[in-house]
Amino acid sequence: MGKIPYGPTYDEMLDPSKISENIMEKVILAKDEELDPLNLFNITWRGPDNEIRKVVLPKAITGVDANIVVMLGKYFPSGSHKVGPAYATLIEGCVDKEIIPGEHTILGPSTGNFGIGVSYICNLMGYEAIVIMPDNMSKERYERIKRYGAQLDLTPGTESDVILTLERTYQLMKEPKNKALAQFELFPNYRFHRHVTGHSAVEAVKGIGNGRIAAFTSALGSSGTIAAGDHIKQVYPDAKIVALEPYECSTLTDGGRGQHRIEGIGDKMCTLIHNVLNTDFVVMIEDDDCVKGLKVIHDGAHILAEAGVDKDFAVCLKDLFGVSGICNILGAIKMAKYLNLGPEDNVVTIATDGFDRYDSVILDLERRSLETSDNVLRRWKKDVFDEADTSKITDFRSHDKKEQLFNQKEKDWLPFGYKKEYLDAMKVQEFWDSEYAKVQAYNAKIKVLRDEDDDNDNTL
Ligand SMILES: Cc1ncc(COP(=O)(O)O)c(C=O)c1O
Repeated sequence: MGKIPYGPTYDEMLDPSKISENIMEKVILAKDEELDPLNLFNITWRGPDNEIRKVVLPKAITGVDANIVVMLGKYFPSGSHKVGPAYATLIEGCVDKEIIPGEHTILGPSTGNFGIGVSYICNLMGYEAIVIMPDNMSKERYERIKRYGAQLDLTPGTESDVILTLERTYQLMKEPKNKALAQFELFPNYRFHRHVTGHSAVEAVKGIGNGRIAAFTSALGSSGTIAAGDHIKQVYPDAKIVALEPYECSTLTDGGRGQHRIEGIGDKMCTLIHNVLNTDFVVMIEDDDCVKGLKVIHDGAHILAEAGVDKDFAVCLKDLFGVSGICNILGAIKMAKYLNLGPEDNVVTIATDGFDRYDSVILDLERRSLETSDNVLRRWKKDVFDEADTSKITDFRSHDKKEQLFNQKEKDWLPFGYKKEYLDAMKVQEFWDSEYAKVQAYNAKIKVLRDEDDDNDNTL
């Protein structure tokens, strides 16, 4: 067995300046070699200046006075922040001695970015990996997963596609050598986002508007990212935490399930790790608005400039978002309107990945549209951004609405063998706080594992 590299603690992902200098010197040099295991230490929202990577969208794009602050996931290794939960789940399995190098094959159930993250970290840490995902995702996703060396196990892209990937994962887990990084149900995903993304979000708004967070919007896949809201609410109890889902697949709003074009979200369930206690609103976003919005941002810098956006800034935005990033931005705009937010208020949201995996989606849009001339782009800018409305927002703060989400969770998870008592235990905030509190123990255990490896000369 060759050497197994172990990476950062939760605290080090939140703040890489805590990583020891002798590791950091090597990490900086490793940046250009994508498959150098030292890149595990680049799993962070921060850039080289230790600032949170973000853009603040001007009113000329959003049409609202509030500051829409978008944290950028594309700069994470493998091109999306989903590598964070993938790493957190694997490293927790390693320190708990549930995942043994050389013995276990890693399973990654996913709609794409988590699978890309799993194949990437398994490459860096020397594990065989199988990514289980629906067969109707963008071809760029499959290419990347194969490039990082994982096997693909595709399930039919149907109305219940993600449920099928879960069923397939459970089937493969019967083989003792397979260990799943089960993003929909394991708490490292929750811990990564509550700790790393949550604190980073609070820091991202410092010096912007009133320096506080009025709302946080997150389009749900595994519902890991929205766990940042649990931290945001602790710091700003009045902040509104807003879940977004495709209008075409409105599982949380009304139990709807359907095919849609916003890859990575709308997974047709209330995931086990979703703390619905802190979800204040659910907003349905139309999928084609997100694809058209992406086309405007990617190919319409001149149209944005006409609308008053600084031309250089508009060009910089070109590659920063994917389809779900536009969904998150539209959710932020709608909530800013709904909550009547002003120029001092900040809405934080996330761009999970960048444009690099959506060429095929834009080609498909161009094929479906009769034309995409400047006039069309101008109209889309107006329809999608300026006239974003507040018609599909549901308030989920009442007891009855929480019960609706708890019932959805039961419907989704009892069939996978979870007990009603366990699901009932999730109905109090203490359950979530105690899961979160484990971060500190894992910080310590990851350090011990790394130090042991140092002693055995088996580390980075
Ligand atoms: C592109 C994209 N956006 C959004 C999400 C949703 O994030 P989360 O799974 O943390 O809810 C995902 C998840 O895979 C994704 O790939």
